[in-house]
Amino acid sequence: MTEPYMRVEKIVKKFGPFTALNGVDLEVYPGEVHALLGDNGAGKSTLIKTLAGVHEPTSGQIYIEGKPVKFRSPRDASAAGIGTVYQDLAVNQLMSVTRNFFMGREMKGTFGAMKMDEMDKIAHDEMLKIGIDFSDPTQAVGTMSGGQRQTLAIARAIYFGAKVLILDEPTSALGQKQQMEVLKTVKRVRARGDIGIIFITHNEIHSKLVADRYTFLALGQVIGAGTKQEIEEGADIRKLMAGGAEMADLEQELASI
Ligand SMILES: Nc1ncnc2c1ncn2[C@@H]1O[C@H](COP(=O)(O)OP(=O)(O)OP(=O)(O)O)[C@@H](O)[C@H]1O
Ligand SMILES: [Mg+2]
Repeated sequence: MTEPYMRVEKIVKKFGPFTALNGVDLEVYPGEVHALLGDNGAGKSTLIKTLAGVHEPTSGQIYIEGKPVKFRSPRDASAAGIGTVYQDLAVNQLMSVTRNFFMGREMKGTFGAMKMDEMDKIAHDEMLKIGIDFSDPTQAVGTMSGGQRQTLAIARAIYFGAKVLILDEPTSALGQKQQMEVLKTVKRVRARGDIGIIFITHNEIHSKLVADRYTFLALGQVIGAGTKQEIEEGADIRKLMAGGAEMADLEQELASI
């Protein structure tokens, strides 16, 4: 088996007296989708913010290609190849697709003028590589569908060097067809073979469609983890997703009202 690009060991994150993460381990391999699941408040977003340099862990260690690292800012994490696409996509609706793609990293010529033609071409080509032919990147982002916006954010993260691509519930705000578009994008990124994806979802069907590996969180702890085969053949995914609660019991309770 290949080495994980990123490995986290015994990550603890406390907010004052509250422990949001309590000894979490996770490995991300290139060319794999690692589904991260768990009920509301399980600690999924806190974990990825810790990996993305937004939160400093209270204790525990992050390794990149086997070497211990410490991220003091999102910039540090980004430089180490951690690319994060948050659910509320920080895009400016009125700005062009290209300007959003290059936000904060614009290509400029000798006199400081932006190289718009070059940037337009790159934005278009990079999105095409992972599945959307958005022919006119000079259009406003507001004209894109939700699925296309996810693809824009993913293409941008990859172009700027992501080796671990973190997607926080990329399908949750989308309709059925667009959800499938985003899942296709995820599979195309995986097919490159050099990028590992952390895919956060509440959707069991979506995770089964793309996951190679699973980690389930509940109350800040890992309550289940394994390869696709181990989990899909040997574990009760719905129970793990519900933080260990028996879904049959919850459904029976519901039916009795
Ligand atoms: N900045 C913070 N300060 C204090 N508590 C926090 C902070 N961020 C998160 N928490 C708490 O940590 C716990 C885990 O939250 P987190 O957002 O990581 O859960 P989640 O698994 O992403 O849930 P969801 O599925 O609802 O997005 C929650 O109880 C939350 O209230
Ligand atoms: Mg969350």
